[in-house]
This record gives sequence, C-alpha cells and structure tokens, in this order.
Amino acid sequence: MSGPNNEYDPVQVTPLNAEEVAAARDAALAAVEAAADLEQLKQARLDHAGDRSPLALANREIGALPPQARKEAGQRVGQARGAINQALKARQEVLEAAHEEQMLVVETVDVTLPVDRHPRGARHPLTTGAERIADVFVAMGWEVAEGPVIEAEWLNFDALNLGPDHPARTMQDTFWTSPAENHVVLRTHTSPVQARSMLTRTPPIYVVCPGRVFRTDEYDATHSPMFHQVEGLAIDEGITMAHLKGTLDHFATAMFGEGITTRFRPSYFPFTEPSAEVDLVCFVCRGTAVNEDGDTCRTCRGEGWIEWGGCGVVNPRVLVACGVDPERYTGFAFGMGIDRTLMFRHGVEDLRGFFEGDVRFTTAFGTEI
Ligand code: DAH
Repeated sequence: MSGPNNEYDPVQVTPLNAEEVAAARDAALAAVEAAADLEQLKQARLDHAGDRSPLALANREIGALPPQARKEAGQRVGQARGAINQALKARQEVLEAAHEEQMLVVETVDVTLPVDRHPRGARHPLTTGAERIADVFVAMGWEVAEGPVIEAEWLNFDALNLGPDHPARTMQDTFWTSPAENHVVLRTHTSPVQARSMLTRTPPIYVVCPGRVFRTDEYDATHSPMFHQVEGLAIDEGITMAHLKGTLDHFATAMFGEGITTRFRPSYFPFTEPSAEVDLVCFVCRGTAVNEDGDTCRTCRGEGWIEWGGCGVVNPRVLVACGVDPERYTGFAFGMGIDRTLMFRHGVEDLRGFFEGDVRFTTAFGTEI
C-alpha cells in the first residue's frame, strides 16, 4: 500500500493554482458587476458561486491534496469565494434598491386621471325627452299611442279633413313612396295617430302620441327632413276649448317650470275648428321681454312669448271620418315639436345636434337611465 503522497505539488492541480483561482474570481466579479438586474444576478450566482461553479469544483479538489498543501489552497479558494459572495451581496443590494425604485415609478397611480375611463352609456335625449312628455300625460290618466311612420295617405291627410287640394299634399312637403298609386307617404305629422286612435277605440279617448315625422325640408340649424312631434287628443262628452287651455298650461308648467303658461292665437288647421297657435311665456325673460340688463330678450326677440305648436277643437268632419258621433262627443287636439321643445328646455341652438350622434352633445344632457 502506498503512503500519503507527500510529494504532491498543489500548484500542479490546475483548478487550484493561483492564476486559475484568480481568473475564476475575476470572471465572477466581472459577471456580478455586469448583472443589470436581479435575474441576471441570479444567473451570475449560479454560474460563479453555485455547486457547479469553477471555484466550487476547485474546492472539492482540496481534500485530495497532501495535508501540508491544503491550508494554502483552502485559503486561496476561500478568499476568492468570499470576495465573490461579498460582491454578490453588494450587487444584490444595489439591484434590489433599483428594482424597488423602478416599481414605484411603474406602479404610480395618477390620481388626477379621470376616474370614469369607461363611461356608462346613456339613452338619447330625444328618447328621455319624449318619455318625460308622455309621463306628464300618463300622470293625468292618458294613454300613450303610437302609429307607423310609413302611413296611408288617407290617414295622414283625408281623415284629417286635409282635402286633395290642400297645399300640404303637394310634393313640396311630403315624401311620397312609389308606386304613387299605393297612396302611401312618410307621415308628415303625428296627427294620423289621432285618426287611428279614434278608429280603434271607443270614447272617452285620451291619448298622447310621440313619434318621428318627415318633411322635404332643408337640413339646417332649425329644420330637418326628419324630426319629432307629440300629438294629444281628448275625446269625451262636454269637452271644450277651456279643457284644452288648462291641459296645455299644465303641460307647459310641467316642462318649463312654475309660471310658464300658454296663450292662444287664432289660426287655421283643417282638422280643428276653432284652431289656435300655442305660445309659451318666454322661459328666459318670463314674459317681461327684457333681459337682466334691461336689453331686449334674445330668446323671444322681445315678444315675451315663444311659438310652441298648434291646437284646437277637433273638427266634427274628422270625428265623422273616424267613426265618432259628433252629436254626442267633442274633443280637443294639439301638436308640438319634441325637438323644438327640448331645444327650448335645454338651450340647444342647433337642431342637428340631436341627429348626428356626437356623444359630446348627448352626454351634456346627463346619463338619465
Ligand atoms: N299637425 C300639425 C302640424 O304638423 C300640428 C297640429 C296642429 C296638431 C293642430 C294638432 C292640432 O293636433 O290640433 O303642424
């Protein structure tokens, strides 16, 4: 059996010689220094201080050295590994601090950002406006009635005492459908719903009819080929113009506030007799015709009143055409523009805002559900 190898020269065990150890240490220190983030540092630790790193492997060779050589080799490797561990620790602290700082920046919450980044949708102001109007009447026990926008000529005109020679029947105002012999139009007003209501109900009848109407109008700030009207019809025994006036005053006050009532001006509609134009007390100057500075009110142009719609006592010829006994029943009717009413109510200056789908216009009305 051979004795311990006292002659063994540790310098000849390559991984343990001073240059190799120094090279491994320097490579480790360079890798630690070069690690730009914690992930890279983890890799450097594995490569240079892990179980399979050059210095760990070198360390294992020490046991095979003759006892007198072990100390020196052990010190050399130990110092190198110590230096590496220290460098790793220092670099770890630096990178952790940098990481924390970076997270503070990345995760910053900008408290000045708008909270509602996905704003809730809202119903269109014309929808909510029409419902608000209908509600005023439903609260009085009236019924909401609707009719088609593509309407029989007879219901749009004839039944309402608009004879074949009436100017509203010319191509000027009416969108006719083809073929002409079908006698079908896009309804020019909501009044045909009056006729439909009388034809399908027995009196007493109290209906309010909001809806879309069509006329061959220019498209500008105050006109549109499609707009909205609300029609009202009351048929009962003993109905007079006084009931009409009281109803419209209530409607005006409900829409525009206390003190905003109506006045009637004599007018003509084929379907009512007598007929009247309805004006509202100017809701800006409240009828004084002047503004706060004493200048002429711009809203009513110094009139103190604003045109709102048409109305009257239902013409007996309409009652007859729609199967209602004019000896027993009388009635009143009225028609207003819904868009126009909302323009007044909300100070809208351009009608087109209602139709062009810009949410900046519609959200200004709030998110009524
Ligand atoms: N239909 C009329 C228009 O479009 C408005 C109107 C006036 C309706 C008088 C009525 C009424 O019911 O009685 O201009």
